[in-house]
Amino acid sequence: MKGIILAGGKGTRLRPLTFTGAKQLVPVANKPVLFYAIEDLVEAGIPDIGIVVPSDFPMGREQIMGAVGDGSRFGARVTYIDQDAPRGLAHAVGICRDFVGDDKFVVFLGDNFIREGIANTARAFREGSMNATLLLHRVPDPRGLGVAVVEDGRVIELQEKPASPKSDLAIVGIYFLDRNFFEAARGLVPSARGELEITDALSRLIEMGCDVRPEMVVGYWIDTGKHIDMLDANRLILDTLDARIDGEVDAESTVSGRVVIEAGARLVRSNVRGPAIIGAGAVLTDTFIGPFTAIGDGCTITSSEIAHSIVLDHSRIEHIDERIEDSLIGRNVDLRRAATRPRGHKFLLGDNSSLELQ
Ligand code: DAU
Repeated sequence: MKGIILAGGKGTRLRPLTFTGAKQLVPVANKPVLFYAIEDLVEAGIPDIGIVVPSDFPMGREQIMGAVGDGSRFGARVTYIDQDAPRGLAHAVGICRDFVGDDKFVVFLGDNFIREGIANTARAFREGSMNATLLLHRVPDPRGLGVAVVEDGRVIELQEKPASPKSDLAIVGIYFLDRNFFEAARGLVPSARGELEITDALSRLIEMGCDVRPEMVVGYWIDTGKHIDMLDANRLILDTLDARIDGEVDAESTVSGRVVIEAGARLVRSNVRGPAIIGAGAVLTDTFIGPFTAIGDGCTITSSEIAHSIVLDHSRIEHIDERIEDSLIGRNVDLRRAATRPRGHKFLLGDNSSLELQ
């Protein structure tokens, strides 16, 4: 069996972070979202992985290739497949035809994330006679997602982002498929949003009489496309980490709960209340880091309070009197209160930034 990870697309909903980087590399608990997908595939015994990268977004493409390399450090063998433009998920899978050959395969959207991994479903699919298995998750409002209708243990109908969903079963972005998919994807026409939809190809698969099975995801599933979803994913993953202190904690600092302090990080008169992770080389002085917070490598945080947030590498936050919460702060951000008067707000914010003062 082969694995395909779709890491194309432009990540418009995560701007401005995605102006300077691939959305699949935004970290959750200090690890890029994409790495969880690679690890899930390797754990399921699928080390041959094709990663679809966007050739029309060279910066994102090169960052992904730089971060993942040949995959050997994950125990994977990675092949990169260029997509010239985000023409839709069915297009992205279609260009993997040669890579897949006649094998069965699993497609993982590079920004999707499930707790239980895919090992059990992969085993059943490898051994079974079905042509496709779709992971489904019950959600209160599936209108922004793909939706499945299930009858007698089979998927009988699919809808993509329907105004009137026919069920509350959302299609998770992890698809188990065989070569029939390529046949079904042939001749598709772009949808109203101008993309070749994977859901349309899967509907064709059903029309062709293929055996398409549902598999319920019982643990959490997150599509990390938006800022609030990233924070949710961060919260859930931090809650599963094993506590570990490899950095320095001085006598006046306290660490409580599930906390990871990476090597080279330093706490000076600071409190970290888990679940939280403090990246390598970060320095926290007179600071409180509250639950569900990930501080990236090399950050400097002084006289500030941060909770339920993600701060990416090498950012500096100093003397912010009010607590920073529910925030996603990019790399190399400089956020500080000026020592001198007059004291007004001075901003240098990139396009599509979002700042809320209270
Ligand atoms: O997250 C699950 C949902 O994913 C499903 O319920 C929907 O049925 C499915 O269509 C898809 O919807 P999205 O609109 O959320 O997909 P999105 O455009 O965000 O793309 C998902 C990933 O695939 C993302 O990591 C970028 C990558 N991608 C996307 C496109 C359009 C590509 O690699 N190439 C592409 O052409």
